[in-house]
Amino acid sequence: MSKTFYVTTPIYYINSDPHIGSAYTTIVADVVARYKRMMGYDTFFLTGTDEHGQHVLNSARAAKKDPKVFSDELSRRFVDLWKGLEISNDAFVRTTDDYHVKTVQMFFQKMHDKGDIYIGKYEGWYCVNCETFWTDKDLDEDKVCPTCHRPLEHVEEENYFFRLSKYTEPLLKHFKEHPDFVEPDFRRNEMIRILEDGLEDISVSRTSFDWGVPVPFDPKHVVYVWFDALVNYVSAIGYGWNEEMFNKYWPADVHFIGKEINRFHSLVWPAMLMSMELPLPKKIFAHGWLTVNGEKISKSKGNAIDPRVLVKAYGMDAVKYYLLRDIQFGNDGNFSEDNLIVRINADLANDLGNLVRRTLSMISQNFDFLPNFSEIGAYDDELEKLTTETIKEYFKFMDEFNFTKALTNIWKLVKFGNKYIDLTEPWLMAHDDSKKARLATVLYNLSDLIRNVAIMLSPILVKTADNILKNMGQRFEGIETLGWHKTVPGVKITVGEPLFPRIDTKKWKKVINMTKEEDKKIEEKSQVTIDDFAKLDLRVARIVKAERIPKSEKLLKLILDVDGEERQIVAGIGKVYTPESLLGREIIIIYNLKPTKLMGIESNGMLLAAKDSDKLRILTVDGQIDTGAKIS
Ligand code: MSP
Repeated sequence: MSKTFYVTTPIYYINSDPHIGSAYTTIVADVVARYKRMMGYDTFFLTGTDEHGQHVLNSARAAKKDPKVFSDELSRRFVDLWKGLEISNDAFVRTTDDYHVKTVQMFFQKMHDKGDIYIGKYEGWYCVNCETFWTDKDLDEDKVCPTCHRPLEHVEEENYFFRLSKYTEPLLKHFKEHPDFVEPDFRRNEMIRILEDGLEDISVSRTSFDWGVPVPFDPKHVVYVWFDALVNYVSAIGYGWNEEMFNKYWPADVHFIGKEINRFHSLVWPAMLMSMELPLPKKIFAHGWLTVNGEKISKSKGNAIDPRVLVKAYGMDAVKYYLLRDIQFGNDGNFSEDNLIVRINADLANDLGNLVRRTLSMISQNFDFLPNFSEIGAYDDELEKLTTETIKEYFKFMDEFNFTKALTNIWKLVKFGNKYIDLTEPWLMAHDDSKKARLATVLYNLSDLIRNVAIMLSPILVKTADNILKNMGQRFEGIETLGWHKTVPGVKITVGEPLFPRIDTKKWKKVINMTKEEDKKIEEKSQVTIDDFAKLDLRVARIVKAERIPKSEKLLKLILDVDGEERQIVAGIGKVYTPESLLGREIIIIYNLKPTKLMGIESNGMLLAAKDSDKLRILTVDGQIDTGAKIS
């Protein structure tokens, strides 16, 4: 039986816009999948999309689309994105897929049958954006989401609950017996602390909307989106529909995730599996968060850059190399375009590119074919020792997901290759027939070094490694061929184009336009004083009448009550809100705006709304307050 390896990424919220930070999980998982395939494992690499829940439903409604149609459109975006980033996933799971829905229902039914799911009343806080329940214990007075800092909704619902508390002790035992279960260790310790405080049962169904997997025995409930999503790791490999495939790959070897979703993966998911009497994943690796040029990634900062834009400018190999080399996997890290360029010029163009070009040029100038070694000489031992050591450590570091160390070591070998050329001075041997055998050996040794480096880099520098091997007439024929003096001599070689052209920083136009300094300048320029703000008279108003303005899709005429005064305003929100849905809503208006006419209709003020690229939401007040109340 062949060795298997099952690796997963989280499934992405279908309505999120992936940026370099969120794509990071998948980029790294792809490297691991490629490494394991190279090591001879029958590897299964899974990614997909998370499509149910209130947040997706709200987005679909705002886009005036049926949620399934909306999801179908958006899911394609992810399939295309991963293709554009050369991600080698073996399957793509969607939580709206039939087999997945059935598996979620099987989980829910079985856990209910054994008494681990029961009906109860939920009262607490909910973050629609993160689809996460919070208790008072987790929150400060301002009741904002600890993860995304958005205001929370207070919810009171009849819900099904999962008896998570029952699994506190079994989980603690598992953590103790499997010290590598959650990594890095500081994140494992965080989980152990939560366990030591004791877990509380969690709500696992919702009734206030219907975009989800129906609870099989009580279809007015839909399964909570996280319960639904976590099941993807087993539904996609056949649990409930392909026993053979499931037994082959489960338990997963590693779930790669970002740190903010660690609790769900390291506590809730294992408890669900215990309840189902299924084995637990072997490892959960929770990496840190990326910032871009030192700033949190956000649309408004202009740094939530589509990773394809970066890849178009620099190539996937370079972007991947930079991410894995400069950001210590596990910790938070900063993506800096300047540092990316430094890595391209110094490591890829200079160290690696020159080594390959110098070696292949000398071979083509002096031999018809790649020569064989015969005359061992100075520095050869050192080269052999370093090659063997680097390979040994490469396996160790790659198995630990310590990509920074693996790459730093490989670069020691690359640098030694350039030094070996300087020390052996092959150009001096070229014109002396008596030195031909030594010249052949030096060039063979260099080719061997380069071939080994190319194989080790191939899970990361996919295209570059392939190019190098092709130009040297070599083929990868199993991991046993990684090692000293396993290069096949006597084959035709091609010098080829430089691997990485140098970037001229003076002429180069960077793709992330917002540097920290620029950002600051813009922020400063747009700052207002408290006196500027005081000029605005913002007040609470209640919508008492709303109607469409004939011949306009967008404009609505609203009659407002502002502390007993009747006000008329025209608002451009008709594409998103129906007049009926606005009646009775308390909104915020600019009360002292100069009156104007829109399509001939007088507008005496303006309502406030929040807008991003595809959504629009009116601003309302949190709880009861008299109309006319001033905003300060
Ligand atoms: N749908 C859930 C996962 C369910 S898995 C059963 C989800 N989706 S997500 O789209 O919000 O996140 C996808 C991945 O992107 C997560 O691993 C998350 O940690 C990661 N990141 C999002 N922004 C990030 C950074 N700025 N930096 C690094 N990773 C971050 O969560």
